[in-house]
Amino acid sequence: RRHLLSSADLALPQVRAILDTAAEMHGVQQREVKKLPTLRGRTVVNLFFEDSTRTRSSFEIAGKWLSADVINISGKGSSTSKGESLRDTVLTVAAMGVDALVIRHHASGAAHQVSQWVDAHVINAGDGMHEHPTQALLDAYTMERRLGSLEGRHVLIVGDLTHSRVVRSNLITLKTLGARVTLVAPPTLMPSGIRAWSQAEGFELSHDFDAVLPTADAVMMLRVQRERMSGGFFPTAREYTVGYGLTRPRLDTLVAANPDVVICHPGPMNRGLEIGADAADAAQSLILDQVSAGVAVRMSVLYHLLAGEEGAA
Ligand code: CP
Repeated sequence: RRHLLSSADLALPQVRAILDTAAEMHGVQQREVKKLPTLRGRTVVNLFFEDSTRTRSSFEIAGKWLSADVINISGKGSSTSKGESLRDTVLTVAAMGVDALVIRHHASGAAHQVSQWVDAHVINAGDGMHEHPTQALLDAYTMERRLGSLEGRHVLIVGDLTHSRVVRSNLITLKTLGARVTLVAPPTLMPSGIRAWSQAEGFELSHDFDAVLPTADAVMMLRVQRERMSGGFFPTAREYTVGYGLTRPRLDTLVAANPDVVICHPGPMNRGLEIGADAADAAQSLILDQVSAGVAVRMSVLYHLLAGEEGAA
């Protein structure tokens, strides 16, 4: 069975194939009647043990527009709350004859573990602080549509690197597409071992947002994940914004240096903390384009995993 567990599962030809199909799906998304018969008779289960707005609903819409039957199960409201284990839960769902399991779980490695237990295709919709591969694909798709090829483009990824699964998947996919990436964060929000990793993988690190800001083709702001922090974070919210927030003055600097710059955020945003309303709603902001692309990219991923095996389209 083929799965999508990590961005590292996708070499350049596979990333290109997914992004090219996503462009076709985007065309379908813009039609008045959006249904394709591609996955008729197939069943996709969204199994979400962590909250989600974008990922869960876009996988649901994607599956439905491809004519799959889509079922949503969340941790709250399922027998997990009665103590059923992850293994028993997924074996129970799989026993009903599902074709694909889209899983979000708070434990890093959960999707990989689930793929060992079931016969269905497994798609990682976010596993703890580890990876979120479809987010990286939709980010790449969105940036490419505005910027063209990402080869040699300078992407800043800014903020809470320690708790972000988006950053790891983005680093892999952006490297595959030939982008230059600089990670920007206070020392308190850079994970241990990142210096060695950056040297091995060829991305750059900075603690000085203002110094690197004017060199950016794209700025991806990350959410400060307070729910994953046991104590406080860099030293106060106010000081975080002063040092690392995409504020109005930084937006002005960014646009003055490069009027074609784009601003991304995977969502959900903490407006006023890591990104101000001026930047979130600026002409340069692609944040809602990312949401829209999420449906097309997830249609493409479902298509490549499920339709490919039967040659249907
Ligand atoms: N970006 C993202 O994963 O958003 P949700 O948590 O709303 O799915």
